[in-house]
Amino acid sequence: MEVVIYPDAERVARHGAGLVEAMLKVKPDAVFGFATGRTPIALYRRLVERHRTGAVSFARTTSFNLDEYLGIPADSPQSYRSFMDREFFDHVDIERENTHLPACAEGENPQRVGPAYEARIRAAGGIDLQILGIGHNGHIGFNEPSSSLASRTRVKTLTRRTLEANGRLFAADEFQPRLAITMGIGTIMEARRILLLATGAAKAAAVAGLVEGPVTAMCPASALQWHERVTVLLDEAAAAQLRYREYYDLAHRENRALKERFGDFYAPE
Ligand code: F6R
Repeated sequence: MEVVIYPDAERVARHGAGLVEAMLKVKPDAVFGFATGRTPIALYRRLVERHRTGAVSFARTTSFNLDEYLGIPADSPQSYRSFMDREFFDHVDIERENTHLPACAEGENPQRVGPAYEARIRAAGGIDLQILGIGHNGHIGFNEPSSSLASRTRVKTLTRRTLEANGRLFAADEFQPRLAITMGIGTIMEARRILLLATGAAKAAAVAGLVEGPVTAMCPASALQWHERVTVLLDEAAAAQLRYREYYDLAHRENRALKERFGDFYAPE
């Protein structure tokens, strides 16, 4: 696991955008796994800027989002489809039919959505780069604590803490879904490369669990310790509870020196 700590969230977003851009250079038809939430917004903005200058194109890419609420229509402003359109898809050249979310249509059996979503991911050749945030409770996607580390895309009940954290986006009299369909931890682990972003002091305990804690279903993100290619980008506040901080900085300097000498080798499988 590569852990890189920056003074602020802006640098985190810039490094994240750089990794997406590097992926596009070697694989213009890359398959991306996207996340919603507050954290990746700055990264999407950087990518939109890069797209406007002509530096990156998403025209040949495919995307699969981690999760979608169950019980609100896709065109609701609160849906994750709307979030992605608003924050990213509407501003780049990705083909809309190549953007996927695990959404359940009105009247559809939600239990069928997960297996169908997994089949679509497989048909696209699997995810090359999965972008993740992390919940205060260590969730990735909507895999709440106690989720099986082998779980696949399925319906999940959201914890009270997650409902409170996401409640800011819903008006007091508005229906807030308590269920979502999320990629499982097993699904996320199959991505060839993973980029997790965390910023702000509220994420410090979850980040410590992810990077230095035991691998446990009570901190679902800790499963990433078993993944071969994970980059964790943090700001100072999110890194505040890491005990091996000094080592991560040292390793980052060494890795940078290697890249300067031998180039930024990036080979997707
Ligand atoms: C979003 C998602 C969640 C968020 C997490 C952090 O698609 O799956 O796991 O990444 O809840 O959210 P923010 O970034 O709003 O703190």
